[in-house]
Amino acid sequence: KSQPDKKWLGTPIDELNRLPQCAPPLSRLQPAPHHTVTVRTDLLREGEVPVPYPSKFKDAWDELSVKMPCSERNLFPMETEDGNGVQSRWDLIRTALQTGFKSSLDVRDAILRYNTGHAKKWDFTALNLLCTEGLAHSKVQQLFDVILPSMVELALKAPKLCTMPIPLLKSRMNHSLTLSQEQIACLLANAFFCTFPRRNSRKSEYDPVLETHMNVEMFAIFYLFIFWSRSQTQLTHLHITCEGTIEGNGYGMLQVDFANRFVGGGVTGHGLVQEEIRFLINPELIISRLFTEALEYNECLIITGAEQYSRYSGYAESYKWEESYKDETPRDDWQRRCTEIVAIDALKYRHFLEQFLPEKMTRELNKAYCGFHRNNANRKHLSAVATGNWGCGAFGGDTRLKALIQLMAAAQAGRDVAYFTFGDALLMKDVHDMHSFLTERQVTVGQLYSLLNQYFNEECKNCRTTRPDINLYNFIYKKVSSPAASDTLNSAKDCG
Ligand code: AR6
Repeated sequence: KSQPDKKWLGTPIDELNRLPQCAPPLSRLQPAPHHTVTVRTDLLREGEVPVPYPSKFKDAWDELSVKMPCSERNLFPMETEDGNGVQSRWDLIRTALQTGFKSSLDVRDAILRYNTGHAKKWDFTALNLLCTEGLAHSKVQQLFDVILPSMVELALKAPKLCTMPIPLLKSRMNHSLTLSQEQIACLLANAFFCTFPRRNSRKSEYDPVLETHMNVEMFAIFYLFIFWSRSQTQLTHLHITCEGTIEGNGYGMLQVDFANRFVGGGVTGHGLVQEEIRFLINPELIISRLFTEALEYNECLIITGAEQYSRYSGYAESYKWEESYKDETPRDDWQRRCTEIVAIDALKYRHFLEQFLPEKMTRELNKAYCGFHRNNANRKHLSAVATGNWGCGAFGGDTRLKALIQLMAAAQAGRDVAYFTFGDALLMKDVHDMHSFLTERQVTVGQLYSLLNQYFNEECKNCRTTRPDINLYNFIYKKVSSPAASDTLNSAKDCG
């Protein structure tokens, strides 16, 4: 029965739901109290750049909106003959950026002209290195002759392109925001040149972008949660493979971003694992950092329509940009690429046993459920979840526990799962075997939840070593197969 060289197990991937085929037609794109749309929805046409709305820049300088660099209220202190005055910071930005750059030092000097307070703290080493050692001479030439001037032009179009105040996606607030890719490019160009007014908790961002033109929707949601122990739901289908990646093979599925609670994690700093890589190859994701507050335990961020611009190889230390990539993903009726990414942040564990604490397992279940569940959706229209070792790299979680938790959350949300083990053939087999075993015996999510809690009580709570004597899967096999299993499982049902 065992086929050692099998690269995938379970349901064939082509039998899982993908967008756009699985979903019914979208309702017309329309602004609503919980949905800010910054483009003219009546003028939305395939292949055309969406028109910003409103036509004139509307300023908002408050705690609910992104403070725009081109706001009249964005002022810069200025010494004058008769004491201290202020001047428009946007005027200063325009003058500084339009001076033209011949070297990375010119870029630095321009940025520091309107960020004088940061002259000592900000470090431009990466940009300098890129220009002196990182790029071939011809590429540096192109950077200064073509790319940077067009980025300046794009950044300075902010008052024409980003005319509507952009709401901050605050904690405990369900809100959708639809921006065009052109608007995002403009915001990213501004982020690159550090033009955004001082933001207390944020660092500056240095990320180059390409010009683009369709919509991206960002949606932050939060949920109240279900009683896991009472769930009668059975596991859904699982395709599991040790080959391929979420972004490469999970097209059309709900793709999980193994996120930090500050979405994007170290993307503008030093991190270079799953989330940062995704933000680099789909750079429009980066702009979510401008308006998304740290995620709470019951929140996630869904981003639809981010385009992939780069191909990479390697991972972490061996990560390498390979070449530019032409994204051919079809667009939906709102002209977004059919790429749906959900940012969910796992907990970080330092000690193996910690993650089996019932409250931690419940937290992870809820977090995953919050990412996978869609209100009022018919399950047959939901795309499968494309995921993998969520929380099991930088965050130190156990892959077998996390796989089970994600299977439970997906089942509860009514979605199938495509699981990418990232090369781990043994994990593929273990999770597949467990999934088959549980499905054959019709074990419910509620019963599984109870088994997880029993595992903690019987094996982890009083464990004196770093790991329990029996691993989670063997514990489950033993409990479910034992003659007393029906008791175990029934008590699982009752204890809700
Ligand atoms: N497709 C499928 N699986 C992958 C992929 C991919 N493209 N890339 C990596 N993996 P990690 P975490 C597997 O460490 O533990 C960031 O800084 C691979 O086995 O990125 O949740 C965030 O901002 C890898 O070991 O996720 C957070 O701060 C595993 O997924 C933090 O890391 C976990 O990837 C989150 O850490």
